[in-house]
Amino acid sequence: MKKFLDLVDLNDSELERLLKRARTLERHPTGDALAGKTVALLFMNPSLRTLASMQAGVSQLSGASFLIQPGAGSWKLETRPGAVMDGDAVEHVREAIPVLAEYADLLAVRCFAEGKDLATDLADGTIRAMAELSPKPFISLESALSHPCQALADWKTLDDFDIPRAGGRFVLSWANHPKALAYAVPASALNMALCRGMNVTVLRPEGFDLPEPVMARARTLAARHGGALVTTDKRDEAMAGAHVLYAKSWSAPSCYGKPEEEAELRALHRDWCIAESWFKKASPNAKFMHCLPVRRNVKVADEVLDGPRSVVVKEAANRLHVQKSLLVEMLGGEVAP
Ligand code: CP
Repeated sequence: MKKFLDLVDLNDSELERLLKRARTLERHPTGDALAGKTVALLFMNPSLRTLASMQAGVSQLSGASFLIQPGAGSWKLETRPGAVMDGDAVEHVREAIPVLAEYADLLAVRCFAEGKDLATDLADGTIRAMAELSPKPFISLESALSHPCQALADWKTLDDFDIPRAGGRFVLSWANHPKALAYAVPASALNMALCRGMNVTVLRPEGFDLPEPVMARARTLAARHGGALVTTDKRDEAMAGAHVLYAKSWSAPSCYGKPEEEAELRALHRDWCIAESWFKKASPNAKFMHCLPVRRNVKVADEVLDGPRSVVVKEAANRLHVQKSLLVEMLGGEVAP
């Protein structure tokens, strides 16, 4: 595997091999599978889990990593093709990516949506262009439309808690947030659950449908993997028999790139803060999932995050295990079974 940009690009055997090796690495966390290998970490945006888990994972397998954070100790980078670079950005990724590839065996890059133009962000072209510029293996650590390492960790988390694949009921719920957010995590969670063969309900208030291209892809995955896909604004209906509620906020597509207009629409839905009462019709051991970071008592109530349903820390822990598995896969190391 040379590039990892989206979970849906994996075939079944790659996916199962990655998950199996992640479980092995969870039991035996250290080794020398990455000895002599160097990983370049390029973060165009902030992070807690992704950065820490990548650095920790490389170190635990005896590799080395270096971190570039444009604008914070290294040059600001331009990503737009054909840009007239008379602003803050000093260097273009057209040079920066091949240069970093001279120093590293693998590049791992975080580059979020710009949040200005919906069609541009849905095309997810920036990360794909960066991957094309890299002659070395390349991992997306979240792009405009995909957070594949999170999706892989979430898949493992569902397996860890014996959440059924076929027949499992997965609710992806919109939740309140003070700012308009991108589609990378909800699209990845949706696609992950559908690739797992689950029946998925997208629960959202009026006006907050996921963009049609995201839903069109999801429908294709539902048909391919045998799951169902429905959308509703009725909480009790959505949550009936649910095994999982996965919460995330996302922008209203009709107001994409217009934060003031979007905020007015979002202000009507402050009651979309996930509470324990949402689970009254769910499966008895239904789990609460969120990729983190999360705003307590805006998006999710303390009672849920601090209660027994919450598996948010386990999801974050699984980031470490699956990313180590991915690095070994892409850099050709060995992990004893
Ligand atoms: N879930 C996730 O990617 O967390 P960070 O943004 O903190 O890396």
